[in-house]
Amino acid sequence: MNEPAENLREEILDRIGHCVSDTELEQLRVEYLGRKGKLTGLLRGLKEAPPEKRPRLGEELNQLRRFVEGRIEERLKILKEDKGGKALSEERTDITLPGSRWERGRIHPLSLTMDEIIDVFLGMGFEIARGPDIEDDYHNFEALNMPQDHPAREMQDTFFVSDNRLLRTHTSPVQIRVMERRKPPLRVIAPGTVYRHDELDVTHSPMFHQVEGFMVDRAISFSHLRGVLTHFLRQIFTQDIGVRFRPSFFPFTEPSAEVDIQCLVCGGKGLSQGAKSCRVCGGSGWLEILGAGMIDPEVFRFVGYDPEKVSGFAFGMGVERIAMLKFGIEDIRLFFQNDLRFLRQFP
Ligand code: PHE
Repeated sequence: MNEPAENLREEILDRIGHCVSDTELEQLRVEYLGRKGKLTGLLRGLKEAPPEKRPRLGEELNQLRRFVEGRIEERLKILKEDKGGKALSEERTDITLPGSRWERGRIHPLSLTMDEIIDVFLGMGFEIARGPDIEDDYHNFEALNMPQDHPAREMQDTFFVSDNRLLRTHTSPVQIRVMERRKPPLRVIAPGTVYRHDELDVTHSPMFHQVEGFMVDRAISFSHLRGVLTHFLRQIFTQDIGVRFRPSFFPFTEPSAEVDIQCLVCGGKGLSQGAKSCRVCGGSGWLEILGAGMIDPEVFRFVGYDPEKVSGFAFGMGVERIAMLKFGIEDIRLFFQNDLRFLRQFP
């Protein structure tokens, strides 16, 4: 091959190798093989060559032309394939990689317990009412027959938000709020959060949950209270569990009672296996579960009911305590630590 042709060949090959797109290759094709292209120029220059050399030179240049065309095609193909290859490697799904797991949440044991409690009362025709967590003095204390100097109002029991605002210490103010708005007959439960200025320990939490309940109608008696609560406790624990009502005191009920169930651990015997006192009930054979009583006539007067015409009962229970007994949980703090090893144990 003559020198100019040889140089041109090297030059073109090098440039083709650097082309990274089909537009670049097209430009290159025009630059060398187009009508005014360099290679075309050499072919045209053939007529200047001595006639005896022309056929060979012509043949060489045409070969070079075909060679270059072939190379451009080849390069185009490679670029196309490479493009596909790139796309493939970017989109590739590696099915051997571990998948991302979807953690399934569970219902908190307190919610489970709360729902179960609510269900039993809905089954007895109770409806659900709610009240504010931030209460005023009147609804939390005064209207519940707890005057200014009542010991239950002492500072260490109550979180005050301002002079007249406080975090409710029980769900009983919902009794007042419902009765203020409505007339009997009433059959209502009020589940919710309550707050007390207690140190956190195994059995105390400054925030916990209660379910309040009350029923007001003509001629409601203590027997109704007994019937409703006994049925409730047997639904929540076991059908044959012993239930007892002990005289007690609350400012807003008269008479008042504390309701106990037979100890779930020792079965009411008060003894554990080694003939020692039962750890859970302390040897009494009974567990305190609820506060209850007949709604005090004073409370009815606060909400404008005539205590001569209507009567009713009320009760309140701690949800944590019931959940602890049901599930055998010994430390109330476990409910609020959000330790998944604990929370995963509840179906
Ligand atoms: N409110 C009481 C408490 O928090 C419980 C209770 C409610 C007692 C209704 C009697 C009647 O301890």
